[in-house]
Amino acid sequence: MGHSDQGAQTPIPDRGWLLALPKAEVHVHLEGCLAPELVSSAARRAGAELPGDLEQGVHDLDSLLRTLDISCALIDTEAELIDIAYGFSRHEADSGVRYADVIVNPAHWPAWRGRLDSFVAALDAGFTAAETDGFTPVGICPSIGRDQSASEAVELVEWIVADQSERLVALSIDGNEEAAGRSSPRFADAFGRAAAAGFHRCVHAGESSGPEGVWDAIDLLGAERIDHGIRCVDDPALVAELARRGIALDVCPTSNVRLGVVSSLHDHPVEQLRAAGVRVSINTDDPFLLGTDIPAEMASVATTFSWGTDVVAEMARTSIDASFASAEVKRALQNELSAFLESPS
Ligand code: HPA
Ligand code: ZN
Repeated sequence: MGHSDQGAQTPIPDRGWLLALPKAEVHVHLEGCLAPELVSSAARRAGAELPGDLEQGVHDLDSLLRTLDISCALIDTEAELIDIAYGFSRHEADSGVRYADVIVNPAHWPAWRGRLDSFVAALDAGFTAAETDGFTPVGICPSIGRDQSASEAVELVEWIVADQSERLVALSIDGNEEAAGRSSPRFADAFGRAAAAGFHRCVHAGESSGPEGVWDAIDLLGAERIDHGIRCVDDPALVAELARRGIALDVCPTSNVRLGVVSSLHDHPVEQLRAAGVRVSINTDDPFLLGTDIPAEMASVATTFSWGTDVVAEMARTSIDASFASAEVKRALQNELSAFLESPS
């Protein structure tokens, strides 16, 4: 393989440089960003018994999704949602993330069923307060679960379209594709409606599904970005298509190793995909639960594949460009990135 330590034109970046690097995060779930203290105090209040250290129980996609269900089910006050949103934005700022698209799947939050307005209003209040305090601006990508019905999906889209809040930027879909079977045909109508109303689309595919899941994401759901997407590597025609169309993959290295999607970081296809011309950004998926942040993710892959600062900077550029921030925000961030790269280190 070509990724021994030869060939790094620029030095492998250290954490200080990675922290300072202007970048966006585009694949992160709010459900995976609950502070452990907040979850345990919510459990205490509810008289619920938590199954030990929640993080310890996560070893595959199913156990991750179950863990998200357990913790989010405890959250039933607006004050907690405000706290979670504020804490997320602060965490992103602490990682040097200048803009984040956050995925929020209402199906994980049963206390808010039928009260989506209050749910999103509380999150919006938390994000607004955080941004006012100088932390990272956030766009919400409301998400459908792969196990939901077509009518639930359409209902969510109708709510998004009616809400008219600038906070909502895209329709997302997540959950377990393998367990759901081929489900994209069921959601094509919902995604078509979201697109027609001017919303962006990001789709989890090619994590627990193979290349066929990624083809469906593009062909049936109009995905502009693929969350994970890494199993595309098994279909050269798909890799070529993603590269040709510039559809970015929102890659989460630690998540893929932890959930057994790849057997080790060394075996992760991200380097092969990058070399094939596929646009890639580096993300955290569920950072509080997986104990990671963007600089740590970038450092692991850069070390594993001997990527210099030039390669990592290109991924930061992709993260900004592929984000659903407004054109003005994207332009400002690209300029910030260019200035950072030109400044003497
Ligand atoms: N895949 C699918 N659904 C998810 C994930 C993921 O990696 N993280 C949180 N929900
Ligand atoms: Zn994800």
